[in-house]
Amino acid sequence: DNKAFIFDLDGVIVDTAKYHFLAWKKIANQLGIEFTEENNELLKGVSRIRSLDIILELGNKAASQEDKDKWLTQKNEDYLSQLVDMDHREILPGVFDVLQFLKSNKQPIALGSASKNARPILEKTGILSYFDAIVDGNDVTNAKPDPEVFLIAAKLLNVKSENAIVFEDSVAGIQAANIANMISIGIGDKNILHEAKYVFDNFTAISEHFLKGL
Ligand code: G6P
Ligand code: MG
Repeated sequence: DNKAFIFDLDGVIVDTAKYHFLAWKKIANQLGIEFTEENNELLKGVSRIRSLDIILELGNKAASQEDKDKWLTQKNEDYLSQLVDMDHREILPGVFDVLQFLKSNKQPIALGSASKNARPILEKTGILSYFDAIVDGNDVTNAKPDPEVFLIAAKLLNVKSENAIVFEDSVAGIQAANIANMISIGIGDKNILHEAKYVFDNFTAISEHFLKGL
């Protein structure tokens, strides 16, 4: 059966998770809410709107829709200001080699991201052409751990769920892949991503032999 490889974006392909964290931390602190890297694990993979709600829940705070809209805009402007000079140097170690390897073996590749900023990031880093399908925050209504984003990607690539391989750095994303009955591969800390079928520190630790065996 045909396989397909679905990549999350932030924290998997590009090193942007730190910019999301810093921008959210600024908003949280402005609201008098403490926000640690550990809290931030709850936000990884989650949509922009849901992220703000999680921060407000952490601080036990209610807010008007008007205020929320203001903070969402502020967060995104702050985040985007970090990406102005972005180029291929923001691609995480080993990612480019894996994309090349999959391409040269004619394996279908999709993006499965919650971000509404996904396309410009793929363009700036020069890897847009590697993707046969792109599913991002503009295409889905349900945030990870809902499997919607990965199910749409598999459908676009015409593969069955069980033949789809998902690379994720977030707990919510690993759960989404598992719920979709896909093969989940965590990129990051194995203690945090323990629900994944496999976990690697980064893409340099993933061999061609492993990829072929999937
Ligand atoms: C990804 C990131 C999250 C981010 C979300 C929405 O899943 O892991 O940290 O909040 O996308 O991104 P956006 O660029 O649309 O704000
Ligand atoms: Mg991510």
